[in-house]
Amino acid sequence: MLPTAELHIHIEGTLEPEMLVRLAARNGVKLPTTDIDELRARYRFTDLQAFLDLYYANLPVLRTEQDFYDLTSAYLARAATAGVRRAEIFFDPQAHLRNGVPLEAVFAGLSGALDDADDISADLILCFLRDLGAEAAEETFRAALPFRDRFIGVGLDSAEVGNPPGIFQDVYRMAAAEGLHRVAHAGEEGGPDYVWEALDVLGVERVDHGIRAMEDVELVARLRDDRVALTVCPLSNVALRVVDKLADHVLPAMLDEGLLVCVNSDDPAYFGGYVDDNFAALRGKLGLDEQQLATLAWNSFDACFASAEQKARWQ
Ligand code: ADE
Ligand code: ZN
Repeated sequence: MLPTAELHIHIEGTLEPEMLVRLAARNGVKLPTTDIDELRARYRFTDLQAFLDLYYANLPVLRTEQDFYDLTSAYLARAATAGVRRAEIFFDPQAHLRNGVPLEAVFAGLSGALDDADDISADLILCFLRDLGAEAAEETFRAALPFRDRFIGVGLDSAEVGNPPGIFQDVYRMAAAEGLHRVAHAGEEGGPDYVWEALDVLGVERVDHGIRAMEDVELVARLRDDRVALTVCPLSNVALRVVDKLADHVLPAMLDEGLLVCVNSDDPAYFGGYVDDNFAALRGKLGLDEQQLATLAWNSFDACFASAEQKARWQ
C-alpha cells in the first residue's frame, strides 16, 4: 500500500452507521431507525445538497468531548490501515454550535484524539459553512480564537452554488493575519469562476475538489504555474453525481496537465470508502498505472502543511 497524506477529510463525514447508533444510544438521541442496513441504504444521493441534508441530520448524536474523541480516534485508526501518514482534518464548528455543543468540547475531543495518535501526524482545519454567510463565519472565527493553537488553517465547505468564495474575503484576511493556512472547496459543483475567486480573493494555498477548473484553460495554466494543489475526491464525485461514473473522471487529464493533484476520501462513511478504497478504484476502474498512483501519493506530501523536514522524511 502506498503511504499517503490525506488533505481533504471531513471528520463529521467519517460517522459510520455503527458509530451513529452507538452515540445516539449513549446520548439518548432518537434516530429514524437503528437498523444498520437501513441506515446505510440512506447513504445514496442525487447531489451535494441531498448529501448535506443527511450529514447535518446525523450530527446531533455528537454531544460530548468523548464523542468527538471517539469519532476522531476511529478515523485515525482506519486511516492508518489505509497508509495515511499525515492527515489534515476538516471540522465544522458551526454545525455543532447550532446543536448546542460548546466549542470547548469540540476542540478538546478532536485535539485529544490527535494527541493520542502515535502512528499518524495530524492537524485540524476549521471550516466555515458557506451557506450561513460571512457574518456567521466571522463570529465563529472570533469564538475560535481562544483555541488558535489547536488548528492550523481555515477552509470553506457546505452548499457551494450561490455561495461564492469572495463573500468570505474579510474572514480569510483575519485568518491570514493570524498566520493560518487557507484552503476552500471550489469547483466541486460550482464553476471555474469559483476557483478563480478562491485564488484571487481568498488567497487560498490549496483548492478542495477543483475538478471543474478543467473547463478553463487559463485557470489550468494558473494552477500549474503556481503549483496550487487540488485535493480531488474521486469516489465522492461519483457518489454526489458530479461525474456520471469513475471512468469519466478528469483526474487522469489533471495529471496529464501537470497539476498538483492528490487523492482523498472527503466523507468516507457516506461515499463508499476511505483513501485506500479511492486508490483501489483509480487502479481498477480508471486504469491508472503505478507511476500515476505514486505521483498522486507524492503530491499529497508535497501539498501538505507539515514542515519541510517532515515532508522529506515521508517522500
Ligand atoms: N461538507 C462535507 N463534505 C462536503 C463536500 N464534499 N462538499 C461541500 N461541503 C462538504
Ligand atoms: Zn469536502
